[in-house]
Amino acid sequence: MLKSSNLRIDLDRLLNRIETLAQIGAIDGGGVCRMALTDEDRRGRDLVVGWMKELHLDISIDRIGNVIGMRAGIEPAAPVLTGSHIDTVATGGRYDGSLGVLAGLEVIATLNQANLTTRKSLAVGFFTNEEGARFAPDMMGSAVHQGVFEVEDMLRIIGIDGSTLGEELDKTGYAGDTQTGAFRADCFIELHVEQGPVLQTGNYEIGAVEGVQGISWTEYRLSGTSNHAGTTPMQLRQDAGYVASAISVEARRIAKSMGADQVATVGVTELSPNLINVIARAALVTVDLRNTDEQKLQQAEHSMADFVTEICNSEAVTFESRTLARFEPVEFDHSMVKLVAETARSLDYKVRKMPSGAGHDAQMFAPNCPTAMIFVPSRDGISHNVAEYTEPEHLRAGADVLLQVLLAKSREG
Ligand code: GLV
Ligand code: MN
Ligand code: MN
Repeated sequence: MLKSSNLRIDLDRLLNRIETLAQIGAIDGGGVCRMALTDEDRRGRDLVVGWMKELHLDISIDRIGNVIGMRAGIEPAAPVLTGSHIDTVATGGRYDGSLGVLAGLEVIATLNQANLTTRKSLAVGFFTNEEGARFAPDMMGSAVHQGVFEVEDMLRIIGIDGSTLGEELDKTGYAGDTQTGAFRADCFIELHVEQGPVLQTGNYEIGAVEGVQGISWTEYRLSGTSNHAGTTPMQLRQDAGYVASAISVEARRIAKSMGADQVATVGVTELSPNLINVIARAALVTVDLRNTDEQKLQQAEHSMADFVTEICNSEAVTFESRTLARFEPVEFDHSMVKLVAETARSLDYKVRKMPSGAGHDAQMFAPNCPTAMIFVPSRDGISHNVAEYTEPEHLRAGADVLLQVLLAKSREG
């Protein structure tokens, strides 16, 4: 009989599932647009749930639409959980999130084929709206799952297209009846593409993720006065468009002045009426600030907030600000990180311990159960872009490490 430490995933089967899921919401350039709770998301969910059924998983769906497929172990202990998300940003790649879910299914398929029953149960989940690009905040499903947010508050959230989350969820048919916030996992391990350049640059195959940086999302709604572009003297303008641009420039200045660990992004600037010869009456601007150090993240937030107040005063523009997401930096469980690194080395992969720059469902589990992540390289560090790509051999590496880590955790007493 094959020793479980010699078990390996089937790369072709994994690639096949990645390719098939990527057809749902496929966009030019090989990417995917499957934003949370759209019809594409529903079709992606149906496909993955179909695979879960084929693998004989016991499926539960909670009130925010998180889906968990359980493979029973010998003992009735809390399950060893893996998974990620299948929603994407509008210009997404085919690996962000989907890899973690489909590699989880590949692990189950491998165990089924080997007829191997684990001591603890194993579960694979996908969590609603990890991206937060349509409905903020991000990591919403996993946060509700772990009791960070109340489900009723999330169901009321309005998306960027004016839709209400609860209604959109109902339309997908994935508003389940399993209680949220009650699920306890033995541990959580998520495989994900790095989405940055570190692993490729150092020729590493595996990242053992030590934690996730803090995230701060703020929306500013600026109100000025529309007027004629040719006749209005500069000192008499109340130009919401100018203030929006100044915020964008300041976000970059703050990040650069604070050094390498601080990043800042203005991903949305919408002007009204958005015409060449009309001073903008209104602007919507979003600021995304991230840092691995909570104190520094707060410093960046204060600098930004002070600047917005000053620039609005000087331009006689009024503003309203709203926090769309705020998560502190998270540190993963040391023994889990060590297990990921040692497992990868035992499979002859070159490993680097590293923080995550992107947000992940795993960070919502970290306070409640031992949690870690496995990263695989992203070509040229590109993600949230249709060109996102990970070499098949790196997908294999990540899925095999995931398999062995899950086996190790499901054997532990
Ligand atoms: C999620 O992908 C995020 O980090 O914004
Ligand atoms: Mn992701
Ligand atoms: Mn993403």
